[in-house]
Amino acid sequence: MRAPLRALTLAAVAGGAAFGYASILERNWFALRRADVPVLPAGSEPVRLLHLSDIHLTPGRHRLLSWIRSLDTLAPDLVVNTGDSIAHAQSVDPLLDALGPLLDRPGVFVYGSNDLYSPVPGNPLHYLWDTSAKRHNRHVPDLPWAELGASMAAAGWLDANNARGRVKAAGLDIEVGGVHDSHICRAHYEDIAGPTDPTADLRLGVMHSPEPAIMDQFAADGYDLLLAGHTHGGQVCVPGYGALVTNCGIEPARASGLHRHPAEGGPGRPWLHVSAGLGTSPWTPVRFACRPEAALLTLVPRIG
Ligand SMILES: [Fe+2]
Repeated sequence: MRAPLRALTLAAVAGGAAFGYASILERNWFALRRADVPVLPAGSEPVRLLHLSDIHLTPGRHRLLSWIRSLDTLAPDLVVNTGDSIAHAQSVDPLLDALGPLLDRPGVFVYGSNDLYSPVPGNPLHYLWDTSAKRHNRHVPDLPWAELGASMAAAGWLDANNARGRVKAAGLDIEVGGVHDSHICRAHYEDIAGPTDPTADLRLGVMHSPEPAIMDQFAADGYDLLLAGHTHGGQVCVPGYGALVTNCGIEPARASGLHRHPAEGGPGRPWLHVSAGLGTSPWTPVRFACRPEAALLTLVPRIG
């Protein structure tokens, strides 16, 4: 075999192997991220918060469903779902079934754009220079987002889409403020704007997409902890380096995990946890160096 042909064959084999790994193995290699977050009043007992995001459920994802079903054994005190839960019209019932006893625990949810609009194919390279928000041109939702939300609300979870509310978890009084997805122009922070309650034990801000301009407003209103998803942690990352893209305004260095917002500043800034999420669009069914994840955050008393 001549050298150029051999090189092309090797490249094709390597590319096929990498795609197979990313689409079959890593996409189903679920991880539980754990972190302690010092946001509670002195003397509080630890609170276990399970953060779910970006499940993007389509029919047939049995491994994903059974992994979600196993999460109740973590005995979380509070469950927060930051959206993009479904990616198919037939996904609501399987998702609710997998959440199962988690729905009996205190919970909070917001929607992502993919709860409303079915996924469409696109060039994934676009994410290198643009976000999907600029390509969104549909105005009539075609997925059963209302049925999904009504079911979570009927179970007792707080609907925090452009809403504020109160949740009791592990004996703590938690003030919650949340916004709908900014990528489809449904985030209306003005609906929840205003100082948080200093008598609450914790002030929790919830959103799908971690847009810095919205997080600035949460920070200014005194929220202690912000939770978001949407980025998929970069989804296809560079080993040893990390995310290249976030599909929103936050920089790749904060594409997933526990950070502060703003990234630089004093000790009074809120904590920010961005979930890399559990799924992908069915049109880009790959994850590389970025395992699908849920997070168990242990909320503990503030330091000092
Ligand atoms: Fe997503």
